[in-house]
Amino acid sequence: WTATRDRNCKLPMPKGSMGFPIIGETCHWVMQGAGFHASRRQKYGNVFKTHLLGRPLIRVTGAENVRKVLMGEHTLVSVDWPQSTSTLLGPNSLANSIGDIHRKRRKIFAKVFSHEALESYLPKIQQVIQETLRVWSSNPEPINVYRESQRLSFQMAIRVLLGFRVSEEEMRFLFHTFQEFVDNVFSLPIDLPFSGYRKGIRARDTLQKAIEKAIREKPLCTQGKDYSDALDVLLESAKENGTELSMQELKESTIELIFAAFATTASASTSLVMQLLKHPAVLEKMREELRNCGLLHDGCLCQGELRLDSIYNLKYLDCVIKEVLRLYAPVSGGYRIAMQTFELDGVQIPKGWSVMYSIRDTHDTSAVFKDVQAFDPDRFSAERGEDREGRFHYLPFGGGVRSCLGKQLATLFLKLLAVELAGGSRFELASRTFSRMVSVPVVHPTDGLRVKFFGLD
Ligand code: HEM
Repeated sequence: WTATRDRNCKLPMPKGSMGFPIIGETCHWVMQGAGFHASRRQKYGNVFKTHLLGRPLIRVTGAENVRKVLMGEHTLVSVDWPQSTSTLLGPNSLANSIGDIHRKRRKIFAKVFSHEALESYLPKIQQVIQETLRVWSSNPEPINVYRESQRLSFQMAIRVLLGFRVSEEEMRFLFHTFQEFVDNVFSLPIDLPFSGYRKGIRARDTLQKAIEKAIREKPLCTQGKDYSDALDVLLESAKENGTELSMQELKESTIELIFAAFATTASASTSLVMQLLKHPAVLEKMREELRNCGLLHDGCLCQGELRLDSIYNLKYLDCVIKEVLRLYAPVSGGYRIAMQTFELDGVQIPKGWSVMYSIRDTHDTSAVFKDVQAFDPDRFSAERGEDREGRFHYLPFGGGVRSCLGKQLATLFLKLLAVELAGGSRFELASRTFSRMVSVPVVHPTDGLRVKFFGLD
């Protein structure tokens, strides 16, 4: 795969700059954050070339262009994560599998996120969120919401998804190792002592050892439908599909699930808290909906058992979460490789080039969203339904055969957090202003968002 133009194709190459030898524009990308792609898009158009993480890349924005890339999976394009991500996630991960193997693995995973499975996770997720908010409220100091949300989503993944019973000390150790892994998952693939790539590999090996131990010690519940956690569902689903997962496959799947959930939900949780702080009227409207649906009485959340249907009935809450994910899509895009030369927006995408479809820039530039930079949950209401204009204008969870498998779980988690924030917490900004947003590895404020939480009196 060489990164040259296809001479048999008459179309011009996309415009853009390849930056410095080897590192390309990686440093600009890390330092400029969200502004990197926006500035180049303004200069070169919706399809431009650059050089990131050790390889040439064509970045694609705009619903129609993104539709062509996502619907062209397995024919025009194939998945192609940066080398560091690919090595760290391992050959058995969904992210690295293609064609029939990918389809088979997705089928096995699908059951982990079925309605029935989600219903069984719900009370446990709620419990983890409530415990976390109690800890935040009892802290006399402001909370770094992004960092603590990472801890929260990690706990959700370890306790609820995987059902690991680990001590506080082990949890802390796993969390720090996982942070090291995530921090280096998008690094230059240079395997030298102290390089980010080497740190990532070391963190992955440590995690795999710890996970193998936890899996071996875990009592597995594989009978009947009374799931205790996603790992049980995964093992059962694999059996139903006529296969057994090896320990190596289980370890890689486990790390992939935590990775997929960890930074994304932490980013969205932080953006949710930030938007509720900026828009008290939205918070009040969420409370009103909770009161109207009988979930909030005299300023207190009803402690009865919450079911999926009661959450799905909260239509305004649904709009709020959708709007958070539109304005601050945690994942900026997905990586593919061109399997053949094809045309996009009047330029050639030569065979062998890496292609990154853009989520956030597509949201930001979409004409279907009125006043695109405003936080306006009602744009998703039944009356306005701005997202009905075409599904590739709104894609926080990607699209096509590789769309997010954990979408329902992530949305449920965010809704449960929002319900607890609206019904059971008081919180205020602890800094003078809101800080700048950066987008690597996921979108988050530079100071992490410092907020003081108070328990309800
Ligand atoms: C894939 C976003 C949470 C599991 C994706 C993709 C996006 C995404 C954009 C597609 C990437 C591509 O096209 O290459 C998000 C967001 C989340 C979230 C915004 C939270 C707000 C989760 C959670 C899980 C999960 C909680 C599971 C525990 C996955 C998996 C894939 C994926 C397994 C790979 C699917 C495949 O390759 O077939 N996610 N995700 N995600 N996500 Fe999520």
